[in-house]
Amino acid sequence: MPRFRIFRFDPEADKAPWYRTYTVDAGPGERILDCLNKIKWEQDGTLGYRMSCAHGVCGSDGMRINGVCALACQKLVKDYAGVEEIRLEPLPFFQVRKDLIVDMDDFLDRVRSMRPYLVREESPPEKESLQSPEDHAKVEDAIRCILCACCTSACPVMWENPDYVGPAALVWAYRYLYDSRDSAFRSRLEKLNEPNSVWPCANYFECTRVCPKNIPITKSINFMKREIKKFEFPQKIE
Ligand code: FES
Repeated sequence: MPRFRIFRFDPEADKAPWYRTYTVDAGPGERILDCLNKIKWEQDGTLGYRMSCAHGVCGSDGMRINGVCALACQKLVKDYAGVEEIRLEPLPFFQVRKDLIVDMDDFLDRVRSMRPYLVREESPPEKESLQSPEDHAKVEDAIRCILCACCTSACPVMWENPDYVGPAALVWAYRYLYDSRDSAFRSRLEKLNEPNSVWPCANYFECTRVCPKNIPITKSINFMKREIKKFEFPQKIE
């Protein structure tokens, strides 16, 4: 039976974080999220975590599992076979709201700063705004982002420079920069050329390693850096 060591912290009641251990009656094919549900429903109703779809779609249950950021609904008990205790902790770098629940507001503001929507000069068409399969292919990797925040919380640069906008925001920037229906290419590039946009990325590749949707995040950031270098902006690029 898998044993879990789970980070607990209620800022309104606890002076400091603490850990509680739970043993769960779960088979190797059960998901870590199933185990959390069993703990919550059968052992300790005070445990806080987020979940919704349970199928890797909503991005709610990002957390650190044995030191690696991941979705609890995409990891199975057998992925941790031989491990004495499965350690569950909130996403690093984020402020803890309660137990495994973190504050996503600042993260979402960073994504919003990249204007994650189509900007068009002309008025929108009456029906759909069509896109060719070739044009769609340019952004289809980035479209898979579910805003789970695993990439941003795993990025070592966030600790060195908390003002860095982070990999998830840059995925959304990429997604609209190369959308054939968008008209704001140049102003988006100018935004990306700001000091805390693409440039702090130091190619650790942690974002790419942990992304549950296999988005080539670091590659996309490097692609945008090269794109910026083709333009002459007033601000000097290092
Ligand atoms: S619960 Fe929706 S992604 Fe895991």
